[in-house]
Amino acid sequence: MTDAKDQTLLLGQTLAFEADPFEVPHAQSARHSARGAVLVEAGRIVAVGEADALRAAHPRARTTDHGAGLILPGFIDAHAHYPQTAVIASWGLRLIDWLQTYTFPEEARFGDPAHAAAVAATYLDLLLAHGTTTAVSFCTSHPGSAEAFFAAAEARGMRTVAGKTCMDRNAPEALRDTPARAHDETRALIARWHGRGRAEVAITPRFTPTSSPAQLEALGALAAEFPGCPVQTHISEQTDEVAWVAALHPEARDYLDTYEAHGLVTPRTLLGHAIHLTPRERARIAEIGATAVHCPTSNTFIGSGLFDLAGRRAEGIGVALATDTGGGSSFSMLRTMAAAYEVGQLAGTALHPARLLWLATEAGAAALHLSGRVGRLAPGAEADLCVLDLASTPAIAQRAARAGDVWEALFPTMMMGDDRAVAATYVMGRRVGAAR
Ligand code: GUN
Ligand code: ZN
Repeated sequence: MTDAKDQTLLLGQTLAFEADPFEVPHAQSARHSARGAVLVEAGRIVAVGEADALRAAHPRARTTDHGAGLILPGFIDAHAHYPQTAVIASWGLRLIDWLQTYTFPEEARFGDPAHAAAVAATYLDLLLAHGTTTAVSFCTSHPGSAEAFFAAAEARGMRTVAGKTCMDRNAPEALRDTPARAHDETRALIARWHGRGRAEVAITPRFTPTSSPAQLEALGALAAEFPGCPVQTHISEQTDEVAWVAALHPEARDYLDTYEAHGLVTPRTLLGHAIHLTPRERARIAEIGATAVHCPTSNTFIGSGLFDLAGRRAEGIGVALATDTGGGSSFSMLRTMAAAYEVGQLAGTALHPARLLWLATEAGAAALHLSGRVGRLAPGAEADLCVLDLASTPAIAQRAARAGDVWEALFPTMMMGDDRAVAATYVMGRRVGAAR
């Protein structure tokens, strides 16, 4: 038996999924305790239950009382670009011009390891302040940018998935690598970081316009050599981009085919945006079990289009949720849930808050093949948690006061909340950031 002094009991409201709210009615999908508790030991959740019962059973556990705070799994952001932290909210351009004007010049600065380290630290601290505990990020084409990111995440104990962003054409000289460098530098990162602590290395071709067939081939070989590595890229975000890919690749059946032909579409592949897909592409993504990553604040901010979440789910495609910082306009998964709700409404599908929360937690974990380890409030899961104040501003508080159940209490925070709603964040059971 472990010494009880190593146990921590967090008290507050708890909300734990027991089934997928896309599959069962929301009332049956989760268990809510108005006075619940989460028992943490050695960085893992060992029990979730009623506060009185767990206190009685573990009288010597250290206790932190979050009052009416809602204890949830930390959020999972399934697609982001940490190097774009400083160019978030850049005005006026759509994808290709936005990349060339704002993104590539900023990414070119990451050849300087000190710049990379500073931005990685800023970015990860922002995520923790927003309740996000698992980040999936692109880096830049400089291996040092990935090194800086993994080092900063390791210093914070955070679970991350990231990769050197490979690009050998249609990009400035300072950002271009080659097929051989993409392969060798990614392979070296895998050897150094994949499975070290909580890090995973993703094979990361930026997208077909910036990766030659030879580069995609080299990265496909890595995907075959390391089937446990995620693959992340972009697909069919804007119609101009789809047309460009068609012009570059008259031999391909479609955009997906440019990845598929090189073995880059696997059950571990995360396809950012995936808005303008053909029926063949959608059927093939479902068949392979790759994930479409919905980035709603980005899709509206840079004018990409409306992702049809209900349509993709109905076709059997797994969907995760992401900010796409800095094409996305927020670091907050709460704001991202709000945008997903709004985009759903435009398609005539009102997403219940249970589904929004599922997308920001369990769906991300499933996409990363980490179900049960993160994104879940249940025994055995890693104790990555966020605690939400459901009355963080006067506007939210007055609405939440009228709520009839926990979902109605949570929904105003999803719609109107930001980092002020995050009362605490825990990484492997350790509280991080400033206490509020
Ligand atoms: N497509 C290729 N690169 C990027 C990027 O950095 N952001 C977004 N939103 N789309 C991309
Ligand atoms: Zn992206």
